[in-house]
Order: sequence, then structure tokens, then C-alpha cells
Amino acid sequence: MSLFITFEGPEGSGKSTQARYLKDYLQQAGYPVILTREPGGTPISDAVRRLVLDGQWTAMEPTTETLLFAAARAQLVGEVILPYLKLGGIVLCDRYADSTFAHQGYGLGRNLTELREITRFATGGLQPDVTFFLDLPVEQGLQRKRKQRDDFRESSQLALPLPHLPQPTPSQSEHWNRLDAREIAYHERVRNGYLEMIAADQQRWQVFDADIERETLTAQLLAAVQPYLSTIKTLS
Ligand SMILES: Nc1ncnc2c1ncn2[C@@H]1O[C@H](COP(=O)(O)OP(=O)(O)O)[C@@H](O)[C@H]1O
Ligand SMILES: [Mg+2]
Repeated sequence: MSLFITFEGPEGSGKSTQARYLKDYLQQAGYPVILTREPGGTPISDAVRRLVLDGQWTAMEPTTETLLFAAARAQLVGEVILPYLKLGGIVLCDRYADSTFAHQGYGLGRNLTELREITRFATGGLQPDVTFFLDLPVEQGLQRKRKQRDDFRESSQLALPLPHLPQPTPSQSEHWNRLDAREIAYHERVRNGYLEMIAADQQRWQVFDADIERETLTAQLLAAVQPYLSTIKTLS
């Protein structure tokens, strides 16, 4: 058996942080586990990531954006996720198809039925076994992201500046991308979209309040993952 876990939630809710902690824990406990993220996770998908999240592309059509995310996902599923699941491993994915429904669907107003068809085409219908939703008020999450971006900017300033090197800009940073920069109402629609999807499928989703200490949340996620581990063979 294998296990496919995805992390979803508003910007800055701690998805990437918690996914890393969970991966470290599972690895130390002897489980075969990989952590990957969307968009990205393969050289081709990372190239698409740079394109789709780059803040300079203000003219990108919602349909183009949707198809680029789907393309990155198709490559990740085919090259990484499915092969690892077939080996019996655990795959943790920082965002997956639900991000498309939340962002391009609820956020940008693309038709949800069409998005489901595109997603099925891109993934071959692969669904997570469980999805952790880390919930946080939108403004609070964006605040965390802005701080992360500013800390990153500060830490990447050269003590002795070389004038010919470009200064890091938000679009070049991992911590503030084209989607993060969207208006607050967009992020509210995204969060409400998630809540609507959760209400419609409570089997797969597990919801966590992300406005708590990092360690406390990690402990809650570890407890939530335990029941799924019984079918996974450890490496030792
Ligand atoms: N529980 C927490 N409390 C306070 N800050 C947090 C917490 N979890 C993560 N952070 C910080 O918030 C920022 C965004 O976290 P990140 O994991 O990148 O969020 P996401 O991947 O959901 O956008 C980071 O600077 C991170 O260190
Ligand atoms: Mg993240």
C-alpha cells in the first residue's frame, strides 16, 4: 500500500513548514517518504513554476495560468508521484489539484466543471488519500508572507554591494509571487472556496487551525497521520 497526502490552505498558513516537519518525522521513523510541491518538483515542472509565478507576467490569461498549473502537475504526477506510490511509498505534496479549484476556480472564476475535467486529464484521476487543510485568516497569512519576504530581502542584501548585480525583487523571491500579490478579496474567495470543498467532502479533508504554535500543529498533524501508517512498510 501507499499513501498520498496533500497540504492545502491560504498563503502563509504553514503548509511548506509543516510538510517539511512531517517529512522529517516520517523519515526518521523509517518510512519511505518524499516531499514535493506544486507547481514544481521536477526540472520541467520547476521551469513551468518560474514562468507561471513570475510577477512580471501581469497579462497572463486565467486560462493560460490554469493550463500551466495543469502541465506542471501532469509532469509531477507522471515523473514523481505515481512512480513513488507504486513502490509503496508515502508522498507528501505541498499543494495539489485543490489549489486549482480554489485559485483558478473560486479565485478567478473559471468554471469548476471544466477545471475538474482538465485536472482529470492532467493527473489521470489521481486523488490524495488525505488532505490537510491549514486554516488561517487571510490577512494574517499574508502578513506572515510579507514578513518572510522582507526577512529574505534583508538576508540577501550584500554587506558590500556590487552595483552590477540586480537587487532581489519580490518576483525573484520564493516568498512573494504573482498569486500572493493578488488583492485581499481574491484570497478571501480562495479560502471560502476551500471551505466549500471541505463541506462537500469531509472524508478526505482534515482541517486544522493554523493560528497556533508551529510545534503544536506538527504534533496534531503527526497524530492525524498515524492511522494511515499501518499499511506502509518501514525501511528497516
Ligand atoms: N505556526 C506558525 N506560527 C507563526 N509563524 C509561522 C507558523 N508556521 C509558519 N510560520 C511562518 O509563516 C511564514 C509562512 O509559512 P509557510 O510554511 O511558508 O506557509 P505556506 O507554505 O502555507 O505559504 C514563514 O515565515 C513561516 O516561518
Ligand atoms: Mg508554501
